[in-house]
Amino acid sequence: MTVSLPQIAILGAGSMGGAILSGLLSPEVRADGIVVTNRTEAKAAGLRESTAGHEGVVSLALESDPDATATALRGARIVLLGVKPAMVPDLLAGIRSLLEPDALVVSLAAGVTIATMEALVPQVVELLTWIVFEYAGQMFGALIGDEPATADERSAFEAAVAGQPRPPS
Ligand SMILES: NC(=O)c1ccc[n+]([C@@H]2O[C@H](COP(=O)([O-])OP(=O)(O)OC[C@H]3O[C@@H](n4cnc5c(N)ncnc54)[C@H](OP(=O)(O)O)[C@@H]3O)[C@@H](O)[C@H]2O)c1
Repeated sequence: MTVSLPQIAILGAGSMGGAILSGLLSPEVRADGIVVTNRTEAKAAGLRESTAGHEGVVSLALESDPDATATALRGARIVLLGVKPAMVPDLLAGIRSLLEPDALVVSLAAGVTIATMEALVPQVVELLTWIVFEYAGQMFGALIGDEPATADERSAFEAAVAGQPRPPS
């Protein structure tokens, strides 16, 4: 089954963001474009190299392009926050005015509550947290949120993100 996703921004593609990017590059996923940002040019260049050949993937660095965040957010309807938890509040405050009105913001940060994030980006309709956990020796991923996205958005996103197995029901 092919999953179609809208344009995606990944702000911070280190270990977690990078793993999700790999999942989004699978042949079963069609995204309308993926723009990834990191702080350093070295990190961005590495991703440019590893994603070469994947059409529609752009890797930018704040170090060499101060407008990288704005570029990534322009048109993005799914925004993944892959920075360290302590950086999430400042990042959210900084991107508040740049988010598309219907952007779905997904935080990967462990320990930053949805309430904290909602207080910073009131105009964002959906705020979800992507959690990864181990159960019976296998890794699972799930989205949690108190104002969840539509069922279609959730299942599309869950199917897309890294193609991980579903948690047991
Ligand atoms: N949900 C889970 O189960 C789970 C598990 C593990 C981790 N996490 C979460 O995932 C998040 C990332 O952790 P990680 O281990 O992947 O960290 P990481 O490898 O250090 O990646 C963070 C990335 O963010 C980039 N960055 C920093 N500030 C930025 C900014 N303002 N704009 C764009 N990019 C920026 C860094 O770029 P540079 O390297 O160029 O500085 C780096 O590549 C954390 O919040 C952590 O809590 C969640």
